[in-house]
Amino acid sequence: VWTIVVAAGTGERFGRPKQFEDLGGRSVLDWALSTAGAASDGVVTVLPAGHAALGSDASTVAGGRTRAESVRCGLAAVPEEAEVICVHDAARPFASPDLFAAVVAAVRGGADGAVPGLAVTDTIKVVDRDGVVVSTPDRASLIAVQTPQAFRADVLRRAHVAGAEGTDDAALVEAVGGRVVVVAGEANNRKLTHPVDLEWARRLLSDDAERPR
Ligand code: C5P
Repeated sequence: VWTIVVAAGTGERFGRPKQFEDLGGRSVLDWALSTAGAASDGVVTVLPAGHAALGSDASTVAGGRTRAESVRCGLAAVPEEAEVICVHDAARPFASPDLFAAVVAAVRGGADGAVPGLAVTDTIKVVDRDGVVVSTPDRASLIAVQTPQAFRADVLRRAHVAGAEGTDDAALVEAVGGRVVVVAGEANNRKLTHPVDLEWARRLLSDDAERPR
């Protein structure tokens, strides 16, 4: 089992690269890396081009313009013998080791891919470019998905053809006919997207100093 931790984003919505922000004395990225490292036989870290150039560690590579491109940069550094490949957002510091184990187990159990998901509590609208509502999907059929997402290595490599785009890896696997299953996601496995999310994460740590690391 190998994990690709994607950390090459520019933090457009955050205002700066959020993966290097301090969270309880460590970087946000460091939280993601330590859980990924404990849950995997190896980890490839994908960093913004300038940062990657600083590292001499062979498991650190430079990312691309989009998340999918960054994952492909990471995939090229994952050994051929890997059977299961997880992809995890550096911006999710609180994914638990159990969550990694659950997605990996689902793939070992026969799925092409497994993603953590939570029921959606807001009603979701499909809108056109002008912001006019086109439709309202039935909320009961919607889930919000997280990372880590785990995949059969051969299927993930096949799905990540040059130029393939999607906001997660499961979308690419679905596009090549892969069977992706959902496991229970975690409420605290929030993606730090806006500054308020980092404030939430810091508060969670100070409220819960006993939190396992
Ligand atoms: O942009 P989004 O919030 O979907 O980013 C999710 C993760 O993907 C973040 O950890 C970010 O650093 C990473 N990413 C990347 N390369 C990009 C864009 C995003 O590694 N070009």
